[in-house]
Amino acid sequence: MCGIVGALAKRDITQVLIQGLQRLEYRGYDSAGVAVISEEGAIQCRRTQGKVKKLEALIGEQSLSGYCGISHTRWATHGVPSETNAHPHLCKNDVALVHNGIIENHETLRKQQTKMGHEFDSETDTEVIVHAVYDALKDTSDLLKAVQETVKTLEGAYALGVVGANKNYRLIAARKGSPLVIGLGDDEYFIASDVFALLGEASHFIYLEDGDIADITLNGITIYDESGEEVTRPINETELKADNIGLGRYRHYMQKEIFEQAAVLKNTIDGRIGDGRLLASCFDGQANSAFETIEEVQIVACGTSFHAGLVAKYWLESIAGLPCQVEVASEFRYRPHIVNKKTLFLTISQSGETADTLAALQASGTLGYAHTLTICNVPESSLIRASEWHLMTRAGPEIGVASTKAFTTQLAALLLLVIALGKHHKITEQKETEIIRQLEVLPEKVAEVLRLEPEIVRFAEQFEDKHHALFLGRGEQYPVAMEGALKIKEISYIHAEAYPAGELKHGPLALVDEDMPIVAVAPNNDLLEKLKSNLQEVQARGGKLFVFADKKAAFEKAEGLSLIRVSEIDDVIAPIIYTIPLQLLAYHVAVIKGTDVDQPRNLAKSVTVE
Ligand code: M6R
Repeated sequence: MCGIVGALAKRDITQVLIQGLQRLEYRGYDSAGVAVISEEGAIQCRRTQGKVKKLEALIGEQSLSGYCGISHTRWATHGVPSETNAHPHLCKNDVALVHNGIIENHETLRKQQTKMGHEFDSETDTEVIVHAVYDALKDTSDLLKAVQETVKTLEGAYALGVVGANKNYRLIAARKGSPLVIGLGDDEYFIASDVFALLGEASHFIYLEDGDIADITLNGITIYDESGEEVTRPINETELKADNIGLGRYRHYMQKEIFEQAAVLKNTIDGRIGDGRLLASCFDGQANSAFETIEEVQIVACGTSFHAGLVAKYWLESIAGLPCQVEVASEFRYRPHIVNKKTLFLTISQSGETADTLAALQASGTLGYAHTLTICNVPESSLIRASEWHLMTRAGPEIGVASTKAFTTQLAALLLLVIALGKHHKITEQKETEIIRQLEVLPEKVAEVLRLEPEIVRFAEQFEDKHHALFLGRGEQYPVAMEGALKIKEISYIHAEAYPAGELKHGPLALVDEDMPIVAVAPNNDLLEKLKSNLQEVQARGGKLFVFADKKAAFEKAEGLSLIRVSEIDDVIAPIIYTIPLQLLAYHVAVIKGTDVDQPRNLAKSVTVE
C-alpha cells in the first residue's frame, strides 16, 4: 500500500526522503515521488511511474535539495499507475501533498472544485485535497488552519503530509483511518506511514491518533486533536534497528522469513509456558478472569490471518469445547449479526493495520460482543490500540508481501489462547501439558521440516510450466491447503485453489488431467484413510499428485505420485509443520519462474484501504 515519508531538518533531507521510500518498498507500490522546498521557498517536485530506483535516477539528472519535504510510494486505487497520478500532488506550485487512504466523497468535491475553476492533472481521489488546502489558504495564510479546514470536508480515510511554498519550513501531518507516525531526531522531525521508513533517523516515535493534526516546525511539534484542542501524545522508543531488517545470507525476504520460523516460534512461546502449564502472565489479568465467562469465539481477519483463524476454529471446538465462527473482515462488517453477548471477538493480523479488520473491530462494540482481543505482530499498531486485550506473535518484522512466519506464529499464539479459554471448558490439566510439550518441541520440528528444502525444489521444478494447481487437505489441514494455494497464487501467479479433499468428487475432479498438479497434505491423523481414498480418485484419472505425508502414513511412490516424507508429529502442531513445505514450494516455484518474490505484482503488504 502507499507509503509516506516527510522530513524537516537543518540539512538537506532529500536522501532521507528517498531512503525512507526504499524502506517502504516492501509494502507494494507502482509509482513514486518527492517534493522538497528549495532555499528560495519553491516546491521542487519529481515523480515517476515504477520503482524508487527510477525516481533516484531522475533526481540524479534533475537534482533537488532542501530542508523540508515529503515523498510517497503509490499503490494505485483511483487511476492507473502513471507519473501524473503519482504523489506528491500540487496546486499551482503553492501547496504539495502526499496521501494514503481513500477519499470517498472525491467525486462531489471534484465537481465543486471544477466549477470553481480548478483544473485536474490526475485521476486520483487525492488531488481534491490539495486544491481544498489551496482554497482554504486564501482565507487564512496559515497552512495548519488550511489543513484543519480541509479535513472537515473529507469523507473516508487519510494520512497526509502537506508542505507549502515558502521559507517557513513547516510540515503538517494529519491522520484519520490510515496510520502515521512522527519520528523524533536531534532537533529534526520526520513523518512516515510506518516506523521502518525512519529507522536510522529516529528511534523515538509519536503515533498520531485518529483525527490528530500535527504542526511540525524546526522549533518543535504541536499536535491538535479532532476538535482542535492541543494534546500531548506519548513518545515511544522502538526496539527495531535498521540492521534487523537486512537480507543477511538470503536471496529474498520471503526465504529469510521462512527460515526464521524455528527461532520466532520460540519467541512466541518463551516466557508464556513453564512446567507443562500456560503461565497466567501470558494474558492480561482481567482477561484471565473474563475468559471464564466466554461461551463463544468470533474470529475476524483477512488473507493468511483468516486461514489462521480457520485452523483455530478446529482447535477451539475440538480441544477447548467452545463454539467458534470465523469470517473474513470485509464480509463481516457489511451484514447483520446475531450476537451471543458472552462472545470473545478475536481479530488476527500481522500488520495490525488492515482496514477491513480494524473496521470490523470498531463495529464489534456496538454489536454487543463481550470482549475484544487481537493477535498481532506489530506493537503500537491500530488494532492493538483499538482492542481491549492483545497477544503479540513476536515474529519480528515481516517484509515479504507473502505472509509466512506471521502465520505460523499466529497459530502458536492461537494455541496459547485455546488453552487459556479451554481451561474453563474442556481442557484437563493432562491435555494442557500435552499441548505445552508439543509447543516446546515445535522449534526443533520446524528446523527438521526446513531441511526438506532440496526435495521441495525438485517438486517446484515440475510446476514451472503449469497454469493451475489444486491443494487438498482434510480437517484442520484444509485451511493449511488454503494457505498453500494462496502462497503459490500470490508469488508465482499460478492459479491455485484449495479444496477439502472430500469435496473433490462434487465438481473439481472434472479439472483433473496431467496438466493439473494436485498438492496434498497428509499427516497421520484420523482422516488419513479418507484422504487416501480421495487421492486415489485423482490417480485413477491421470492426475499428478504431490504429497507431503507423515513417515508412517504408508504412502508408496508410484506413477503419478511424488512423495515427500515429513517426520512424525503430534496432531496438534501438524497445521504449523505442514504449512512450511507449502511455503517453500511456493517460494521455489516463484524463484524458478523469475517473478518478484517479495513484491508480487498488484499486491501490498499492509492493506490500509477498504
Ligand atoms: O496484516 P494482516 O495479517 O491483517 O494482513 C491480511 C492480509 O492482507 C494478508 O495476510 C495477505 O493475504 C498476505 N499477503 C498473504 O500472504
